[in-house]
Amino acid sequence: MMQTDLDRSRMPVHIAIVMDGNGRWAKQRNLPRLAGHNAGMQALKEIVKRSSALGIKHLTVYAFSTENWKRPEEEISGIFRILVAYVNKELEEIHANNVRVTILGEYEKFPENVVAKLRQAMGKTENNTGLEFHIALNYGGRPEILRAARALCRKAKAGTLDPEAVTEEVFQAELFTAGLPDPDLIVRTSGEMRLSNYLLWQSAYSEFVFTDVLWPDFTPDCLEDAIREYQGRSRRFGGIK
Ligand code: IPE
Ligand code: IPE
Ligand code: MG
Repeated sequence: MMQTDLDRSRMPVHIAIVMDGNGRWAKQRNLPRLAGHNAGMQALKEIVKRSSALGIKHLTVYAFSTENWKRPEEEISGIFRILVAYVNKELEEIHANNVRVTILGEYEKFPENVVAKLRQAMGKTENNTGLEFHIALNYGGRPEILRAARALCRKAKAGTLDPEAVTEEVFQAELFTAGLPDPDLIVRTSGEMRLSNYLLWQSAYSEFVFTDVLWPDFTPDCLEDAIREYQGRSRRFGGIK
């Protein structure tokens, strides 16, 4: 594990990031928005590497929301292209670093070639035991909760589930994040202070760090700054210290 001044005994187990500000980064440079998404992918590559080197167990990134379908078709297909290129370029190294890739969200609604590429990334890395790198794609917190509710209703209707037996654990098991610990730390870049439908259920007791840095400028050292801020927080979970 790498050298760092972070407190090893207080590392977040699960870091979730809202990678925001690609468009504004491009605009500042008079570049097309897609150039911003491209630069964002470069930033992501470094964040995955540093997370892995720091021994973080779970990294979840918001890459495409259920609301992002509202964007122009050209931007959406450009994002898909960049995603495929990212897997093509990075999968070998990701795999070599023992990183396991999983997808959260209804990514099957993406074009066939994108779905195939994502499945390739998940399949190749499924037995890796290092960092779990979760990419939220066509993800929305409310659709996720509704989907879980529907699944449970179906079981109740079929008579295989007693409604009174629906605990938080039972509910959680139907979410895309089934089996994952809740995020300890949620970082959002670009100065926006909202969740935008990210991890609504899972963020109940997350610590939030907001930074004005635009996502393409978010370096591994920025990640360590966010973790440092997290380590200064007093987490009480409703109790007293
Ligand atoms: C985040 O950057 C990436 C995605 C939502 C896919 P944006 O594209 O939202 O960048 P801004 O917010 O317009 O600057
Ligand atoms: C959130 O960013 C989604 C992703 C980063 C993928 P947006 O840019 O879509 O969020 P809003 O529209 O500013 O809330
Ligand atoms: Mg945005």
